[in-house]
Amino acid sequence: MSPSRSRRQPPPDAAPALAPLRPGAPRAAVLGTGRYNPERVLTNAELATMVDTSDEWITTRTGMKERRIAAEHEHTSVLGANAARAALEQAGVDASEVDLIICATVTGDMVFPATACFIQELLGARKATAFDLAAACTGFIYGLEVASQLLEGGVHRYALVIGAEKIGSVTDWTDRNTCVLFGDGAGAVLLGQPREGQVAGPGVLASASGTDGSLAHILNIPVGGTRTPLTPENYGKNLHKLQMSGKEVYRQAVGNMVAACQDAMRKAGLGPGDIKLIVPHQANLRIIDGVAERLKIPTEKVFINVQRYGNTGAAAVAMALDEAHREGRFGRGDKILLVAFGAGLTWGATVIEW
Ligand code: ACO
Repeated sequence: MSPSRSRRQPPPDAAPALAPLRPGAPRAAVLGTGRYNPERVLTNAELATMVDTSDEWITTRTGMKERRIAAEHEHTSVLGANAARAALEQAGVDASEVDLIICATVTGDMVFPATACFIQELLGARKATAFDLAAACTGFIYGLEVASQLLEGGVHRYALVIGAEKIGSVTDWTDRNTCVLFGDGAGAVLLGQPREGQVAGPGVLASASGTDGSLAHILNIPVGGTRTPLTPENYGKNLHKLQMSGKEVYRQAVGNMVAACQDAMRKAGLGPGDIKLIVPHQANLRIIDGVAERLKIPTEKVFINVQRYGNTGAAAVAMALDEAHREGRFGRGDKILLVAFGAGLTWGATVIEW
């Protein structure tokens, strides 16, 4: 885990914050953020013409009003590359300088090769090592943890961490239990060592993550892998589309997200009062409210865009971070808490100092 560089004393019950980085040591500063939202808007009213649902049900149960759906030619790699270009542009770094591309996704272009490879080609990032990270909605958080360790270990200088999903392509559009919840999009950050004279905060301070594979069955795409291949016989059952026990996922979400946040803050030597903004996974407004309430973080410190984009899987936190950044919701020196949970089950939280 990355050393903490907080100047605050840790709370009394916390594990001691880690020693500061030695001067000149490699860093995982956030140098740029970006996102890409497909143009096509799918509203609750339009969904109500497709399945037996209503704007009222979707709004009160989830907080969602609309979501974006990618065009046919906008593969997951295209969404991810567009978000990455925006992050590189903001950072003033050329794609040819990028050493590492991690694409968090569970809706990749193909079973293999990795979507990150297609992104590398689209960006012209010829020297980058590129691979995917499959941790569903937590993928971007896991990706930040992996990339920051590789940067701080001196293995790489610039890493793109991308969350990109085309969940609409694996959605059963006849199932009202799931089809109202998801959308497409991508977000990205460029982590790296600031150039001489470039002002950038320490970046990733601490992370905490977890997995519970015994709950893999409550959210998955059961057919189409090597366990149960897609056949003409099982095709009509739509089991190659996303399946979810919404209530069970809901039950697991708040507790695991809160625990991850507390753990990450403890490792960074921080408490909820030190956090300028929490950027949570955008799966359901009630889940977000529950997490904020349990952490005693006031609503104005919680970034929410679920009403406009729905749940975009691994892209959600990355997109929300970029939106909050470009809206000026935080600045140099602020501590930001990112948190997500998803299929696996997986969960994780990361504290970033900007
Ligand atoms: N419109 C109208 N009625 C609906 C709809 C809909 N779109 N969907 C379900 N209903 C009905 C159900 O059939 C049920 O009817 P019944 O009582 O007659 O059986 C009723 O509404 C209530 O359903 P519940 O499941 O009790 O609704 P709940 O309040 O739990 O909300 C929801 C459902 C929104 C799915 C919620 O459980 C949730 O958000 N769960 C978490 C899901 C999640 O976050 N998933 C993403 C994880 S991230 C990842 O890795 C992709």
